[in-house]
Amino acid sequence: MDHFAITDGAMNAEQVPLAEIAREVGTPVYVYSRATLSRHARVFREALSALPSIHIAFAVKSNPNLAVLRLLAKEGYGADVVSEGEMNRALAAGMKAGDVVFSGVGKTRAELIAAVRAGIGQFNLESEEEGVELSEIAAELGARATCTLRVNPDVDARTHAKISTGKAENKFGVAYDRAAGIYERLSALPGLEMRGLAVHIGSQISDLEPSRQAFIKMGALMETLRSQGLTVTHMDLGGGLGVPYKATDDLPTPADYGRMVAEVAGDWGVTLMFEPGRVITGNSGVLVTEVVRVKQGTTNPWIVVDAAMNDLARPAMYDAWHDFAAVHPSGETMTANIVGPICESSDTFAMAREIDVVKAGDLGVFRTAGAYGATMANTYNSRALVPEVMVDGDKWALVANRIEPATILAAEQVPAWLD
Ligand code: LLP
Repeated sequence: MDHFAITDGAMNAEQVPLAEIAREVGTPVYVYSRATLSRHARVFREALSALPSIHIAFAVKSNPNLAVLRLLAKEGYGADVVSEGEMNRALAAGMKAGDVVFSGVGKTRAELIAAVRAGIGQFNLESEEEGVELSEIAAELGARATCTLRVNPDVDARTHAKISTGKAENKFGVAYDRAAGIYERLSALPGLEMRGLAVHIGSQISDLEPSRQAFIKMGALMETLRSQGLTVTHMDLGGGLGVPYKATDDLPTPADYGRMVAEVAGDWGVTLMFEPGRVITGNSGVLVTEVVRVKQGTTNPWIVVDAAMNDLARPAMYDAWHDFAAVHPSGETMTANIVGPICESSDTFAMAREIDVVKAGDLGVFRTAGAYGATMANTYNSRALVPEVMVDGDKWALVANRIEPATILAAEQVPAWLD
């Protein structure tokens, strides 16, 4: 459910006409709904309410906008971060250092030092080598780093190959069979406090069965560790729950997910930790774009919009589907291809799609663009970095400026020896 709907012939974000935002900020522009974000944050928490002890860390990578993070901090969310940049954003947004989880397969030495200094709550170690290095760093700084060990359960999440992370051939975590030995050795290091295990098998998961299998395997590993006299008080079950991108998509709800987790892990006697991203932000945002031109095609017309793969990379990268809708629908539909202006054929949002009729100058939206949208934007073809707006009832505010090509150009220089 979201708050982008047609009222009196025009699409609004909550009570704000998208046309008003487009007029004032220009297009393309991402628009987020505060009510939708808050609702998703609450629904996800509510879905886990049967569990005795939980911690939710929002996966910042899905939408790192400062205002989004502030809103989630106010909803009591911590943050799952994968770089010093994300860590600093989460802290700047008011998330408590103790509620920040540092994930990621390539945390640099400088990042580990910064995170220990900041007192972040948990490191999800991706290797024994990382644990050894972190122990040295923490000991030197007179600290102990609280950690989990990320395990690769070798389970197929049945999602797109590029966003699958829990199979043995993926780079993430330590091999399941080696995990107990590694955990035992890391537990003996002076700079670490090993408190549990972490798992994350992939993103946009549309079937709960692989997650259930992975969690069962993690529960068994937890028992092995305990039987060896090792301490396990926290189990981080990652993120990954998918969202509907099409009206016809039938996905497990947060409540279904919560029931499955309670069934498998409800009696583990640990704090269960979660790292949701897309399920919180996905349906909370749209990308507003203007039709530049409608070009005649051999089969279908080409709708050339002013948003491109640099603004919303998902269709080009993962063949992802984002619904397209006119901001002022006439009620009639057409079959068309929707493309951006970038000079490569991957800059395609939809082919042979049944869409609202649009013509040059009309506004449209790509839906479900709140997750992995603006955050993956770049400036390819010397385009601007796309701005972001948040709506709250009948108010709205620019929450990220458009970074103009001139600003980016000003950061470059020609060495004197070239002239
Ligand atoms: N935790 C870890 C360790 C992760 O790697 C991720 C996502 C999450 C949590 C959050 O997953 P979520 O709940 O959002 O599914 N750019 C891709 C998605 C990449 C996901 C990367 N990791 C896309 O646009 O589909």
